[in-house]
Amino acid sequence: MRPDLRVNIGSLELKNPVMVASGTFGYAEEFKDLMDLKKLGAIVTKTITLKPRLGNLMPRTCETPAGMLNSIGLENPGLEGFISGKLPALKKIGPPLVISISAEDDPKEFMTLARRLDTIKEVAAIELNISCPNIQRSRLVSQDAHSTYEVVKAVRKVTKKTLITKLSPNVTDIGEIALAAERAGSDAVSLINTITGMSIDPDKRRPKIASCVGGLSGPAVRPVAVRMVWETYKKIKIPIIGMGGIIDTYSALEFFLAGATAIATGTANFVNPKVAAEIIVGIKEYMVKNKIKNISHLIGALNL
Ligand SMILES: Cc1cc2nc3c(=O)[nH]c(=O)nc-3n(C[C@H](O)[C@H](O)[C@H](O)COP(=O)(O)O)c2cc1C
Repeated sequence: MRPDLRVNIGSLELKNPVMVASGTFGYAEEFKDLMDLKKLGAIVTKTITLKPRLGNLMPRTCETPAGMLNSIGLENPGLEGFISGKLPALKKIGPPLVISISAEDDPKEFMTLARRLDTIKEVAAIELNISCPNIQRSRLVSQDAHSTYEVVKAVRKVTKKTLITKLSPNVTDIGEIALAAERAGSDAVSLINTITGMSIDPDKRRPKIASCVGGLSGPAVRPVAVRMVWETYKKIKIPIIGMGGIIDTYSALEFFLAGATAIATGTANFVNPKVAAEIIVGIKEYMVKNKIKNISHLIGALNL
């Protein structure tokens, strides 16, 4: 039996449902000697903004029990810097490219980014990062259903590319925010971004990262992420890209069973750069062993 791993996200068909999460795989080129990048279902690039950003003060990361805290602050070369400096190499890799974008609350900046990316053939999809906890802002767009609706709707008007909206777990009801994204025309949602957290060194009496508060990721967040995928799955019809603490095939399978159509590896890429490729093989083996012909039969297929 040859299991069928193809999935559709908007107008995009992926040969398999395994991606790498934004910000944890650079611009992919950095990983080319560490794994066969062609195997990936899709590549999601580090979030870019209209203007270049230097990011936050160092230290920006620290280890935590079963995870890490980061506050990179969206360091990136800006839209044009990305297009001239990073995209040429990315275009040659093969898997569909999902370009992650972010902006201040003003929908116009998101529109400018999306409009420009819409003109580039090799851009398969746009991921709206409205959930980064590491930039100075009182409230994230994705912490409010109305703001989410407004931003997604504005971007939807200027691009025909597959549109993915990345959601924050730092909310009371993630399903409500996902529903707003769906109603505004998003083709899919991805979740979760990091959970806000803080870590302190008692000897120095200082926070372990310069910005005090950062985003928690890694296996520690997985049960929260799986729960949020499950809650979202019950509320919306568009596909969910699940992430948060995936480190191997079995942790990826949790997400499919909770309702994700595709998954992404994040923090695990730093520990094992080949993890996404290993999960693709592992999912195939699981499907053969359990006589599952099509990956769609696993999505939301919990025995309750
Ligand atoms: C160092 C680091 C940088 C990240 N940068 C971004 C980013 O630029 N854009 C984004 O949408 N998410 C970013 N994330 C969040 C991840 O894409 C992912 O949503 C989150 O880490 C949960 O998955 P994980 O537990 O598998 O890492 C970053 C995460 C880490 C650890």
